[in-house]
Amino acid sequence: MNFENIKLDVADGVARLTIDRPKAMNALNSKTLDEIEEAFNYCRENESVRALVISGAGDKAFVAGADIKELAQMTPLSAKDLAYRGQQVYALVEHMGKPTVAMINGFALGGGLELALACNLRTASTSAKMGLPEVSLGIIPGYGGTQRLSRVAGPAVAREWILTGDMFGAEEAHRVGVVNRIFPPEELEAGTMKLVGSILSRGPIAVRFAIEAISRGSNMPQREGEILESDLFGLAASTEDMREGMSAFLEKRKPHFQGK
Ligand code: CAA
Repeated sequence: MNFENIKLDVADGVARLTIDRPKAMNALNSKTLDEIEEAFNYCRENESVRALVISGAGDKAFVAGADIKELAQMTPLSAKDLAYRGQQVYALVEHMGKPTVAMINGFALGGGLELALACNLRTASTSAKMGLPEVSLGIIPGYGGTQRLSRVAGPAVAREWILTGDMFGAEEAHRVGVVNRIFPPEELEAGTMKLVGSILSRGPIAVRFAIEAISRGSNMPQREGEILESDLFGLAASTEDMREGMSAFLEKRKPHFQGK
């Protein structure tokens, strides 16, 4: 696949998607969003991809948001279309059914933080800065931020971050649960890949079902989420992976999961 504004490499089951517009702090113009959509579809459909890690090119930015040059031209209708389109693309990563990690190596602002929030997990360099500064531009977050930040870190954090538009450091983001793990810049890559490796060593179908139960369940009343959980728990019991996982425990050896 030939892309202009992103890179996609797959090795050892892990797809690495790099947003690559460093001159514009990796801001997402419409071409970049189209390419991200193509990459997400590829990762979802391709069996050689078992997990996805997203980062930004260079050492300054993950993604500094939607491209403000494009946003400045918006009319009410085109703005609505733009937000709707971004939400659709981000839903692809949220519902990929494979572990997805945003590795935040610098500024993750606006649509950039919203992209990270659509991933299952977030790691960050201790020098990263995050925020939803849209109100400073006279708009509100449009790629799911008003909904996902509340779900990830709670409504009080979402109100503080979105209403002030302030930027927050990685330690604060970690403290309030926006980011799962933080690492010194030089350890971010290795720390993130270790996290991914640990997930990939578990039963692949179980990991997929767990992602589904958490993601779909968080949008349901608790009792309905529990029923979804019991359905997926039952389905997990039909897999060879379950037999292997339990036999390995009882035989005091490491499991060899086949994803079947
Ligand atoms: N869109 C377009 N260009 C951007 C950009 C963006 N979101 N962010 C940075 N750039 C460009 C700058 O215009 C600049 O380009 P030029 O060299 O051609 O002037 C270049 O990237 C470097 O940026 P700075 O000179 O500003 O670098 P800095 O180190 O001083 O500051 C920054 C970095 C704090 C990230 C700052 O660039 C900034 O605040 N960017 C905007 C962040 C923002 O408001 N994001 C939200 C966008 S709205 C949104 O995302 C809506 C939504 O929910 C969908």
